[in-house]
Amino acid sequence: MKIAVSGKGGVGKTSIAGSLARLFAKDGFKVLAIDNDSAMNLSYTLGIDPKIKETLVPISEMKNLVNERVSVPGAPSGVYNITPEVSDIPDKYKVEGPDGLQLLVLGSIEEPATGCLCPQNALIRTLLYNLFVKRDEVVVVDFEAGLEHLGRGTAKGIDVMLVITEPSQKSLDLCKKIIDLSKKLGIVNIYLIANKVNSNDQLRIVNNRIRDWDVPLFHSIPFDSSIGEADLSGSSPLDYCPNSKAVESIKDLYSKLKRLKKELFDL
Ligand SMILES: Nc1ncnc2c1ncn2[C@@H]1O[C@H](COP(=O)(O)OP(=O)(O)OP(=O)(O)O)[C@@H](O)[C@H]1O
Ligand SMILES: [Mg+2]
Repeated sequence: MKIAVSGKGGVGKTSIAGSLARLFAKDGFKVLAIDNDSAMNLSYTLGIDPKIKETLVPISEMKNLVNERVSVPGAPSGVYNITPEVSDIPDKYKVEGPDGLQLLVLGSIEEPATGCLCPQNALIRTLLYNLFVKRDEVVVVDFEAGLEHLGRGTAKGIDVMLVITEPSQKSLDLCKKIIDLSKKLGIVNIYLIANKVNSNDQLRIVNNRIRDWDVPLFHSIPFDSSIGEADLSGSSPLDYCPNSKAVESIKDLYSKLKRLKKELFDL
């Protein structure tokens, strides 16, 4: 199952993506977690060994690799291959994390709004396509805020799009855009998740705001200061506060996704 996690900046994408990846791995699934954000902080939430973390370089910043893959021998400058060979890259550059999970740091796509097809973007887009369509493990992708960088081809193969919102109108506005775009890209299973929910009142307002949407609220995760404490200490919430109410709620979300996986693939 290929899971993408999206939403506005700061809503909790990385916390949720990383915790879900860990839970799948703990349960014995083969897991590849993908960091597609320039901030590169998924490694913390996954609980990757600091010594390994120091060595991480995003694929988008590996100039020699990018050039080697996209250059066309003898072509004038500015001409390059937009569908480079990438199938060996995930296994070559992934690193091992707790519970046997693997992490691949892609880095972000530059100038997403312009649909720029510079060499890095060509490589990252092709890699995302390859990860979504060609891999057989559970793939969890932590996307950069927004989805503008996704094209129809790149999004092909995303089985589940988790759209994360905070209880705020701005965040919900962006979710609506992400949901519409995801549909246009052909993604079928789109799930809205409210994070950092403080009260039933907030939940009621969110539900009220989305009552016309055809994507209902799939799950809600409470606001829990221990998630922030885990973040501050550079640890995975699963290691730092495994029994906190937010982590318990993410475990419930995991159970729902596992049931969904069964429905989608084990028929
Ligand atoms: N349920 C929660 N309760 C309290 N704090 C939370 C919760 N979920 C996430 N946070 C905190 O919110 C902040 C943002 O979380 P996170 O980095 O996961 O968001 P993000 O969407 O990945 O952000 P960015 O867009 O910057 O990548 C962090 O400090 C994190 O600890
Ligand atoms: Mg993040």
